Amino acid sequence: MKVAVVYESTRGRTKAMAEAICEGVVSAGAECLVIDAKEFPGLDGVCGLALGSSTRMKRTLPMIKRIISELSTLNGLPAAAFGSYGWSGEAPDEIAGKLSEAGASLVEETPIKAKDYPSDSILEQCRALGGKLAAKCSK
Ligand SMILES: Cc1cc2nc3c(=O)[nH]c(=O)nc-3n(C[C@H](O)[C@H](O)[C@H](O)COP(=O)(O)O)c2cc1C
Repeated sequence: MKVAVVYESTRGRTKAMAEAICEGVVSAGAECLVIDAKEFPGLDGVCGLALGSSTRMKRTLPMIKRIISELSTLNGLPAAAFGSYGWSGEAPDEIAGKLSEAGASLVEETPIKAKDYPSDSILEQCRALGGKLAAKCSK
């Protein structure tokens, strides 16, 4: 069983957050895959899910949107949302809402958002989030 951290990113900022989340998962002793949304293989063997997208025109990027729309019931799967943004940052909130609607159990009340490139402190929050997902996976 592993944590899947799936991202869509245009300039690598949300990708950097995804990589930090996985670092946190691995540091906490669980397996993690960082997955580009265009290569999403589905949720087989996944015990925790983080979904991230930057915001474009106030929206979530299309591949993450499609993944969300195709998710079947998540049945309490530990999950989280994240993403980089420039000024309004709607995508992580939209993702978190959809994950909840699909029945996921969000491990953070508010998604992690990075304005532009994630700062060291945001990357630290991402690692901590990975630790939380890993902890849920071992239960
Ligand atoms: C065409 C375009 C539209 C954008 N629209 C928004 C927006 O509506 N709200 C916002 O917060 N940021 C917006 N941004 C800024 C990006 O979300 C921001 O640059 C982000 O850091 C990109 O992260 P990424 O490298 O993970 O894709 C937009 C950027 C571009 C190029």
